[in-house]
Order: sequence, then structure tokens, then C-alpha cells
Amino acid sequence: MIIGVPKEIKTRETRVAVRPDGVKKLVDCGHTVLVEKNAGWLSGYDDAAYKSSGATIIDHPDGIWEKASLIVKVKEPLDSEYKYFRPDLNIFTYLHLASVPELAEALCKNKVTAIGYETVETDDHQLPLLIPMSEVAGRVAGQVGTYLLHKNHGGKGLLLGGVTGTRPGNVVVIGGGYVGLNAAEVTMGLRADTTIIDISDEKLKYIEKKYEGRIRAVRSTPESIKEWVTKADLLVGAILVAGDRAPHVVKQSHVAAMSHGSVIVDVAIDQGGCVETIRQTSHDAPTYEAHGVIHYAVPNMPALTPHTSTEALTTATFPYALKIANEGVMNALEKDRVLAKGLQTMGGKVTLPVLAKLFPNLA
Ligand SMILES: NC(=O)c1ccc[n+]([C@@H]2O[C@H](COP(=O)([O-])OP(=O)(O)OC[C@H]3O[C@@H](n4cnc5c(N)ncnc54)[C@H](O)[C@@H]3O)[C@@H](O)[C@H]2O)c1
Repeated sequence: MIIGVPKEIKTRETRVAVRPDGVKKLVDCGHTVLVEKNAGWLSGYDDAAYKSSGATIIDHPDGIWEKASLIVKVKEPLDSEYKYFRPDLNIFTYLHLASVPELAEALCKNKVTAIGYETVETDDHQLPLLIPMSEVAGRVAGQVGTYLLHKNHGGKGLLLGGVTGTRPGNVVVIGGGYVGLNAAEVTMGLRADTTIIDISDEKLKYIEKKYEGRIRAVRSTPESIKEWVTKADLLVGAILVAGDRAPHVVKQSHVAAMSHGSVIVDVAIDQGGCVETIRQTSHDAPTYEAHGVIHYAVPNMPALTPHTSTEALTTATFPYALKIANEGVMNALEKDRVLAKGLQTMGGKVTLPVLAKLFPNLA
């Protein structure tokens, strides 16, 4: 199979989808791997490393997209890449189609087979290809939030952990999954007063048991969200309803009641965000202010730490990419029900039930 690894083009995206050691394994199995010039540079892998692993380095994305039957990427294809879509093209990448309907339409119109990392799901409902980036984004959320609270970054000028005789900051995390727990561990480590709000009783019990009161666990209701959000210095949005748009559980009135210079980091922005006042930002212009509150909503936060993120991501994704290459897309999907959960578009239709509900015209 010809496998293409284009350079990522989302704003300041720094990750690469396949490392040189992955290229070597693919080539050893008889595949041809085309890697775009400088695709791995920002993650610490130069073209020479790819070449010596057996890759062919291609100068222009045309030469990758037009020749490869399997494209392995990190972020969803952007507008300028839709022209490469065609019926015999297979794409394996993050897609987050719930928040990009025009991509869902372009994939369906051109009958592309697209498998999204974020919905590959094990029998016990874990999302193994989302988890590593959620861990990174959660930790980054704690760090970014801390930084944005500094006065010179627009925040209220609060040291999250406080010092002797002062109050620590209030951190409220909505959604206690991989993002939420990692964000909370960072802010707890800084000695901030940290609360996680989650809808799952099982999750709340887990948090109580694991952190023994160092992180407060609160059941998610409209009332509890209002109570805790309005006193938050740092609010982290970390809800996920797999494949679906995130619900806007934090209302505009809650944001308006937060004190001036507070910070919202809505990590769930890739699924639309869980705050009514949120809109997508980018690494070039990461924040804006609404109701006196700093909003941060960058959909590719792990791009801030490519050395860590590429290693963590590709360790999780590569075995599936190898399986698709070795067995062929259809065979791999038939044989592996975990991978099959990742299938989002095929033959001109959206195949994932939650997306079919969102986009009935494409189902
Ligand atoms: N912006 C980025 O760079 C970036 C990077 C990685 C992940 N993400 C996104 O972060 C989000 C969270 O991912 P995750 O891996 O932590 O998901 P997860 O499934 O591990 O956790 C989600 C949590 O949300 C909880 N939840 C669902 N509905 C809720 C509600 N109404 N109130 C409170 N809690 C609720 C669930 O019980 C669960 O514990 C996803 O949208 C994911 O795509 C974004």
C-alpha cells in the first residue's frame, strides 16, 4: 500500500502522524511511505531520519495526497485539502466532524473512507486514541490557565496556589475524564482549591477514593454548575459525549457572574465547547475577553508540546495504522471492532450513529 504522511497545516500544528521508526516498520512490511518535506521537523524528526528509515521525501502535498491510498494525519483535513478527496482515498486522523459539518459534507460528497481517532472505542468504552492527547491537553490546560491568570496576560493577577495567609484560587473543572483529571492534578499540585463536576456517579466515587478530598467531586446539575462556576477563578471545560457536540452546560449568565479577570479554558472546543460564550481560537490568537473573563479555546492544544505529544499520539495510533496497511482498510475494519468504531464516513454517507443523528441529510 502507498501510505502518505503530509505536513500538518492547521495553525501552528507541530505534531506528525508517523515517526521514523513507524516508517521503518511499514517499509519492512513491503509498503511505500511518502512523507512531506519537514513534516516531522517540529516534533524532533528530520527528513534524514525519515529517509534512512525508508521513506520517500516529497516536496509538495500534491505528491502525497494524489499518490497515497491511505493518508495518516494528526488533525482534520482543512478546506485547502478537500480538493484531494476521491472515492479510493482512505484517511486515518482526528476528525471531530460534529463541529465541522462542511468537512463531513466534503468527505461524503467525494465518497472518502474516513476513520477518526477520537471514536475508536474499546468494549469498555475507552477511547484509546483520544486518551494520550487528552492527558496532554488536560495538563496544558492547568498550565495555560495558571499563566493567563497573571496580570500581564490579562488575568486578575492571582497566584493559583496562593502563599501563606492568602486564599488559594478556585479551580472548577467540568468533566472528570482524562482531560479533567489531568487538569485537576496540575492545579491541585499547585495547591489551588480544585473541584471537579461530573455527571457520572462512578467517576465521582473514583475521584473521592483516589484523591481523598484533595480534589472535591460534585455531581453535575444545572444548580451545581451555576454555584461552582460563578465562584471559579479558573474554569476548565472538559466534557465529552463521544462523537457528539458538547452540551453548553455553562450559560452566558454564569460567565457574566464570574469575577473580572477570571479565566475559562474550554478544552472541549474540538466538539463545540461546553460554555455558551465560547468560540474557537487558535495558537496565533488564543484568547478573547467576554464579560470581563478571558476565554481560551484552542482545538489543538497538544501542538504546544510536540516532542511529548507526537511520541504519545503515535505510540497509540501506529499499531492501527500498521494493521490498516497490512490487512487493507475493509478487512481491518471487519476484523477489529475497536477500530471499526472509528469509521465515520464511507461510500458517501456518515456511518457513525451519533453523526447520523446530527447530519440526517448525510446518513
Ligand atoms: N482542545 C484540545 O486540544 C483537546 C485535546 C484533547 C482532547 N480534547 C477534548 O476534550 C474533551 C474531553 O475529553 P476526555 O478525553 O477527557 O473525555 P472523557 O470521556 O475521558 O471525559 C469526559 C467526561 O465528561 C463527563 N460528562 C459528560 N457529560 C457531562 C455533563 N453534562 N456534566 C459534567 N460532566 C459530563 C463524562 O462523565 C466524562 O467523565 C473532548 O471533547 C476531547 O475531544 C481537546
